[in-house]
Amino acid sequence: TQSTIKAYRAAILDSLGDPAELGIPESYRYFEDGLLVVDNGQISALGNATDLLKDLPADIDVTEYKDALITPGFIDTHIHYPQTGMIASYGEQLLDWLENYTFPAEHKFIDPAHAEEVSDIFLTELLRNGTTTALVFGTVHPQSVDAFFSCAEKRNLRMICGKVMMDRNAPETLTDTAESGYEESKALIERWHGKGRLHYAVTPRFAPTSTPEQLTAAGQLLQEYDGLYMHTHLSENKNEIEWVKELFPEQNGYLDVYDHHNLLGERSVFAHGVHLCDDECKRLAETDSAIAFCPTSNLFLGSGLFNLPKMEQHKIKVGLGTDVGAGTSFSILQTINEAYKVMQLQGEKLNPFKSLYLATLGGAKALQLDEQVGNLEPGSEADFVVLDYNSTPLMGYRMAQAKSLEERLFVMMTLGDDRAVKETFAMGQSVFKRD
Ligand code: GUN
Ligand code: ZN
Repeated sequence: TQSTIKAYRAAILDSLGDPAELGIPESYRYFEDGLLVVDNGQISALGNATDLLKDLPADIDVTEYKDALITPGFIDTHIHYPQTGMIASYGEQLLDWLENYTFPAEHKFIDPAHAEEVSDIFLTELLRNGTTTALVFGTVHPQSVDAFFSCAEKRNLRMICGKVMMDRNAPETLTDTAESGYEESKALIERWHGKGRLHYAVTPRFAPTSTPEQLTAAGQLLQEYDGLYMHTHLSENKNEIEWVKELFPEQNGYLDVYDHHNLLGERSVFAHGVHLCDDECKRLAETDSAIAFCPTSNLFLGSGLFNLPKMEQHKIKVGLGTDVGAGTSFSILQTINEAYKVMQLQGEKLNPFKSLYLATLGGAKALQLDEQVGNLEPGSEADFVVLDYNSTPLMGYRMAQAKSLEERLFVMMTLGDDRAVKETFAMGQSVFKRD
């Protein structure tokens, strides 16, 4: 029988756990001259190249990368594919930005051909940036989700998406009803959830655009199927938070609106959480809900500075989100670069191994996918990236001065972007190769 085994030789780094819990040295695994062995889409071995090669067949296919670092594929825990074409829209904070730019862009997804075209551009862009798994917003149109999942299925990617539920405070052309939002979501769940590596996320846009009836329907869907995600926005902008208080006077704040409708849980992911109080943090931790930290978006829309140390104190699961199109880059490396600055502005340091964790295993844990993806443990799915230490003249020159792995990693995360992604693999298949 023909062997399906392939091996990749380079420096290899992955995350073993949260540095906040394990300490930095125990939080990662590194092989200076490493070998990653892939068999039938899964990782079958990881270790020192010279040791592993002794026990492998002599004719094994080995691809060697010079001046490169293999890491797990990046995980983006919050992004909007329909906003690809309106990234970098000028001048507004959240609520005006939604009205002036976002809603008009999302309206175009009534056309399935447009949805197919943007899905393809979007997934190509994710893979060019080394992102292999993402939690993705569609639009209110079910066809937006059909287009996205079809495109992701063709590339055999582990992806999560859902149709937006939105039945008030938005243009009429972009609203569903509590009833139709429920029925359309249900049909999409039946069609896509658990197919290949795809999962469905029940996706109420945010509290202001759903009636209590619709939030109740969302909670009901989560009860009816196993393994569904719940994906929404939370406490991003001060005006937004005041609006939620006006719309839901009976509830005790923003998170409590979701809690009241049974939307918290281990597969619930809330984007932003920039302005959370201690009680809200406690409740997120208690319910094992996760937060997506979206630094480029929080800076671009002037939303505020995310308090990561507070999340660590409360032991809340956190992943990174680009939040394109409010976010300004598809690159998780650039997202880390901005996260570092957000921490600096609060007098805190973001260690590069913590950043590695957030970008990979931490994101996987936030999505309850750490058995499948997020590190390079044998048995995991072979979703990984090859990063180029020499991706620009400046990076190459700076790397030549860098002494430790920690320093090289920090430079990669500060100067790196899509140009630093040499190759991206999903289920052991090359899905993007530079040049
Ligand atoms: N809150 C509600 N909808 C959105 C959106 O599309 N982007 C962001 N950043 N925040 C939101
Ligand atoms: Zn968002």
